[in-house]
Amino acid sequence: MFNFSFENSTHIHFGEGQIAAITDAIPKSARILVTYGGGSIKSNGVYDQVATALRDHTWFEFSGIEPNPSYDTLMKSMKLIRVHNIDYLLAVGGGSVVDGTKFIAAAALYEGDDPWDLVAKQQPITAALPIGCVLTLPATGSESNTGAVITRDGNKLAFLNPLVRPVFAVLDPAVTLSLSDRQISNGVVDAFVHTMEQYLTYDVNGKVQDRFAEGLLLTLIEEGPKALADATKHDLAVRGNIMWAATMALNGLIGAGVPQDWTTHMIGHELTASYGIDHARTLSIVLPAVMKVCSDAKREKLLQYASRIWQLNEGDDASRIARAIALTEDFFTTMQVPTRLSHVELADDAIDGLVNQLAAHGMVKLGEKGAVTLDVSREILVAAL
Ligand code: NZQ
Ligand code: ZN
Repeated sequence: MFNFSFENSTHIHFGEGQIAAITDAIPKSARILVTYGGGSIKSNGVYDQVATALRDHTWFEFSGIEPNPSYDTLMKSMKLIRVHNIDYLLAVGGGSVVDGTKFIAAAALYEGDDPWDLVAKQQPITAALPIGCVLTLPATGSESNTGAVITRDGNKLAFLNPLVRPVFAVLDPAVTLSLSDRQISNGVVDAFVHTMEQYLTYDVNGKVQDRFAEGLLLTLIEEGPKALADATKHDLAVRGNIMWAATMALNGLIGAGVPQDWTTHMIGHELTASYGIDHARTLSIVLPAVMKVCSDAKREKLLQYASRIWQLNEGDDASRIARAIALTEDFFTTMQVPTRLSHVELADDAIDGLVNQLAAHGMVKLGEKGAVTLDVSREILVAAL
């Protein structure tokens, strides 16, 4: 495997009732801004639990962070932060709220002219407010990683910095019981694809990373459908396994020391930016096409995936790979997400625009070896039709 330095400093408080842990996790002297989304936390009791835990703290709130958080919305928090002298952020919500709060944390202390430069020009982040979070939707891994994805004027772009990694994250599976089937599906599929993008590349003899990744994939394949089935959807053990799998899928562990291929995410971000398709639903459309178009480069790992995840050990290489891709698509279908552009009413006339956006965002050498040029991305989109 490659050399690597690994650190994940986020303190995880896992389990039912753990929202109470924020009382001690945030200093009493802090002036906190609680950030959240469109109000799900008000109807499922999470807001009340947070308010109880913070009853002896000084706190204010900023709501309205939307899915695929926008620069314009996030910048509205700057005045509150100044006026109230905020020095600690508590994100309560899904990946969008956590990502948006990461941007707020860096923007609040940015000394340049326009904080969008932190994203669009990847200006260095030299300071950020500390962040804690209460995760309500297991999916992105944002609760313990260094990344965030922000949208401005149709540009959905990522930034990464250790200074925005949450100090702590509360993972209470019970708060996920109020999720719609659509959001449960999205979360399972997002975590599955995060794992695949750090696994399905080429072999570097990273046995620990591979087997951790395979454990996550098997867990998501086993538990994901249970979270949608009437008989098991309220089972907290199911929710807990999904929640921990989603955190582990993108907390840096399985990606340390191995090649990574974020092609599916980069093409997926363009689909969200141009057509508003849910993040995970872009991934379930793009990943099978990436597996098909890049199958030569990924041959060895595809065969390992076929064998260890789907027990496909008979027949020639090509047929095992084709079957593994078909079973991946079947899993996505079981999780009720689309696997073709046509399933979201897109046809070949969308492809030029998407490829142009990839070019505009510098996504011209994607993949574990930089071999996914714009032409290959076009091929992938055609394969996804
Ligand atoms: O806004 P509220 O009212 O809270 O409703 C949300 C939102 O409408 C709702 N929801 C969340 N928790 C709930 C709930 N509804 C009922 N009960 C609960 N417990 O779910 C809806 C979607 O929320 P969102 O935060 O947008 O979903 P998700 O967690 O999937 O986050 C997606 C965002 O994360 C980015 C994506 O690009 C997208 O913008 N990503 C961030 C990554 C990272 N930071 O590492 C990596 C990912 O690949 C991804 O790109
Ligand atoms: Zn994702």
